[in-house]
Amino acid sequence: MRFDEYPYGSVAFVYDWIAAVYSRGRIGLSKRVQLDEIEADDRVLYAGVGRGEDAVLAARFGARVTAIDLAPAMIRRLSRRLEREGLDVELLCGDVSSHKPERPYDVVVANYFLNLFDVERAREMLRHLRGLVKPGGTLMLADFALPRGGLMARALTELYYRPVNWVAWAFGLCALHPILDHARLIEPLGFRIRSQRRLPVLLGDHPAYVSIVADRVI
Ligand SMILES: C[S@@+](CC[C@H](N)C(=O)[O-])C[C@H]1O[C@@H](n2cnc3c(N)ncnc32)[C@H](O)[C@@H]1O
Repeated sequence: MRFDEYPYGSVAFVYDWIAAVYSRGRIGLSKRVQLDEIEADDRVLYAGVGRGEDAVLAARFGARVTAIDLAPAMIRRLSRRLEREGLDVELLCGDVSSHKPERPYDVVVANYFLNLFDVERAREMLRHLRGLVKPGGTLMLADFALPRGGLMARALTELYYRPVNWVAWAFGLCALHPILDHARLIEPLGFRIRSQRRLPVLLGDHPAYVSIVADRVI
């Protein structure tokens, strides 16, 4: 299934605001912490970049950033922002599945991107993203975290996640699916998870977001 430019284009203007309110700022934080893992001068690809707050931060820091998104409205917004700041980023409007650069990247970032897809399509997308990471390079992704522990953890996570998955599905923004088990998807593809930072939304441990850093070892 392809989540076309139109649904995301039509939410481009409010996307970051909704994400900030719904996650109490954790979505933004889950992306900002990734900057610790990027070296100035790294070649970094942002897949499904959206409005690209994370890509802007990396570019300001000195990384050589490429950002790709299907939605022209997202790319237009990001382009205006980069222009205002005088930042040099390679912006591509298109499907990341067809992106075939001359050489792979030091870092590939897929924030809140795999959750558009059901598990099979997410695996397929990850396989493609793996080919975009150089051997020894890094994959980073931030997304909804799986619950840890018993019934209460699962119930709180479901209550938080399912309604938003239904609504986004109804608007053609994503597939209907449970929260993805990212570790399970990533590791068989030859990545070793270096860190998983959990960012709870409320006081307890659930619901939460996770920011994962994984190295391509094979
Ligand atoms: C849920 S948003 C996440 C945006 C951003 N990464 C963030 O963290 O806010 C997913 C983005 O992926 C884009 N997208 C969906 N399918 C894509 C594809 N096959 N190739 C490139 N971008 C895609 C959408 O247009 C949308 O902007």
